[in-house]
Amino acid sequence: MSYSLQLKDLWPSVRASLLCEQKYGALLNNFSAHSHVTQELELMNATDFVSKGSKEAQQSAATSPPLHASISSNIKCYTYPRGDITRFRPARRDCLGLLEYYLMDAASLLPVLALNVQRDDLVLDLCAAPGGKTLALLQTGLCGHLAANDVSISRTKRLYDILHSYVPKEIRETVSVTSHDGRDWEQLEGGTFHKVLVDVPCTTDRHSVMEEENNIFHKRRTKERQMLPMLQLQLLMAGILATKPGGEVVYSTCSLSSLQNECVVERAVDIAETQFNISVHVEDLSYFRTLFKDTFSFFSDCRLGELVLPHLTANFGPMYFCKLRRV
Ligand SMILES: C[S@@+](CC[C@H](N)C(=O)[O-])C[C@H]1O[C@@H](n2cnc3c(N)ncnc32)[C@H](O)[C@@H]1O
Repeated sequence: MSYSLQLKDLWPSVRASLLCEQKYGALLNNFSAHSHVTQELELMNATDFVSKGSKEAQQSAATSPPLHASISSNIKCYTYPRGDITRFRPARRDCLGLLEYYLMDAASLLPVLALNVQRDDLVLDLCAAPGGKTLALLQTGLCGHLAANDVSISRTKRLYDILHSYVPKEIRETVSVTSHDGRDWEQLEGGTFHKVLVDVPCTTDRHSVMEEENNIFHKRRTKERQMLPMLQLQLLMAGILATKPGGEVVYSTCSLSSLQNECVVERAVDIAETQFNISVHVEDLSYFRTLFKDTFSFFSDCRLGELVLPHLTANFGPMYFCKLRRV
């Protein structure tokens, strides 16, 4: 009922897509010796949507701001064309035991691309487990240091597993994994990071439409669900406070809910200004819609940030992401 009010005529199509099998992207592991994989994927008609978007950005160099500045060309993620529901085979290990690619919702890469990591940036991934976006951050090859945190110890174990399966030891040593409550981060290490990713717990809509057991929309979990925007706001505030002046934060969810998306961002900007005297600028990411229109379906009516809507021909998302700059 809530989403039909928010998305209006689009909701029946989004709902049908959520009930159908989701599409994956194959995030190439730059640390593995995978010379034949790209050939194999391209023979199967898959393309790297990141480099395609990045090329398009370079061609439109006259645009302001220059689009190419915001896309990391080191990240490579293959997807099949719109309407093609071919599935990727499971990844194989190379001679060093590293897996050649990581299968993930390709829309999950957009918050990482929006973060636009630059060489030697100190990066914090505040809610990192199980680690898909942490792995993508490492694929840029640019992080000076990466702090990956998640309050859940069991989920942090999955993050370690991913690091061991995809990342060589010398790179793993540049990552510090912790299990703190992200809301307390300021007391540990405030104002130190160039880039902070705040990928918060949310109603995980795609998962929730299918889940019978322990569904976040179950009556039993009403209180927890109603408290989610508060938890999200506290985590985003912690992310803003962890950022150096001039640094950037990307907030993301995999929910369609504007209460968990734009409303949380609006509230955080307001609290930063009024309670902490910190001015925060919401960056324009609308060029993502232009660059990646062939791969994803974007919602055109977000007040702030961008939202990928699941679509039967491009069944990725939902994924909301919004970028804030601490002025
Ligand atoms: C959407 S998931 C993160 C997914 C992850 N970024 C990825 O790409 O694989 C949200 C995570 O937030 C964690 N979380 C929940 N409350 C938290 C808190 N107070 N502090 C830090 N992490 C928290 C959950 O354990 C969960 O792993």
